[in-house]
Amino acid sequence: MPKKIIVLPGDGVGPEVSREAIKVLKTAGRKTGVSFDFLELLAGGISLDAYGVPIREDVIDSCRKADAVFLGAVGGPKWDNYPKERRPEISLFRLRKELGLFTNLRPVRVYEALKNCSTLRTDLIIGVDILVVRELTGGLYFGKPKFTETMGREERAVDTMEYSTSEIERIAREAFRFALNRRKYVVSVDKSNVLETSQLWRKTVDRIGKQYPGIKLEHMLVDNTAMQLLRIPKHFDVLLTENLFGDILSDEAAVLTGSIGLLPSASLGKGVGLYEPVHGSAPDIAGKNTANPLASILSAAMMFRYSFQMEQAALMIEKSVEEVLNKGYRTADIYTGKSGEKSCCTREMGDAVAEALGGMNPSSRSFDGSPENHVERTGDQ
Ligand code: IPM
Ligand code: MG
Repeated sequence: MPKKIIVLPGDGVGPEVSREAIKVLKTAGRKTGVSFDFLELLAGGISLDAYGVPIREDVIDSCRKADAVFLGAVGGPKWDNYPKERRPEISLFRLRKELGLFTNLRPVRVYEALKNCSTLRTDLIIGVDILVVRELTGGLYFGKPKFTETMGREERAVDTMEYSTSEIERIAREAFRFALNRRKYVVSVDKSNVLETSQLWRKTVDRIGKQYPGIKLEHMLVDNTAMQLLRIPKHFDVLLTENLFGDILSDEAAVLTGSIGLLPSASLGKGVGLYEPVHGSAPDIAGKNTANPLASILSAAMMFRYSFQMEQAALMIEKSVEEVLNKGYRTADIYTGKSGEKSCCTREMGDAVAEALGGMNPSSRSFDGSPENHVERTGDQ
């Protein structure tokens, strides 16, 4: 049976990077005997332009029924002044909420070949391997009330940060499970010296942590985490955090790798998984064939791993990316001008990965998986 994949290329560089990822997905599928049924639908600004809504109900329905969802990026200046219920980002929030995607995985790995791309010293970043586990369907993004009102001569705006025990429990369990197959170390991030939600977060994570005696748990305040991520990034293994802190810290962690153009993500829940690069729509370079497609390609690898339980296909894609970087291929965001680097465009980078993958032997035992690869998702929530 072919795997049904809904592709939502979205806005800005979304369509360009998705195209390269699909190319690589197809190559990996051919090598491992899996076929795909792709259905491209609209989400984000492009959907607003076509239908007047950020995402149509039937599109959400199709996603729910698919084997996996692949997303490019949404948003751009054209829609910045739209009323809040008609902003492109609403499409993302609706997908996250309605598909129950409460776990957002953002692996941050530094490639040896790119050690000079980071703004940080090489000795600090070599060997960095962090898994950010971001809670994705709660906190300030979704808490109610949420409104702006006029009070006399000024306006007043309210967002609500809200978490329940069960919401914290389920994401904490995920983090501990992933840690089991890594370095067995969870740093849970909060602001418990100030926030009620953080106090509940800390207490709940502590309690769940007791069920995982083999895992070391440390609590860290979010302001301190922001500092330690740049000071001693190798300290971190699994970084567990609520929605907004995770949004901010994952962009910060991206600079460790050299470019946000390298960061993939998986959003998981009970049913279908959604895969997207962490970078946004980058309207300034949209349509120029210069965006880095690697984050999108690495998101495709995560799709094989988490939606299809095809670890080997995932590893082959990741190895191909590494091989291409070792050969010197560099899109503009990771080009430093050093000898041996080949400046390339979006399409060339995608072609190079697909070609490297095409030449790989799927039965080779040389794929040494990263530790979180072998987690069994029990789906018990
Ligand atoms: C992300 C993005 C989104 C978020 C935006 C586009 C709404 O920054 O996925 O990190 O804040 O969650
Ligand atoms: Mg973000």
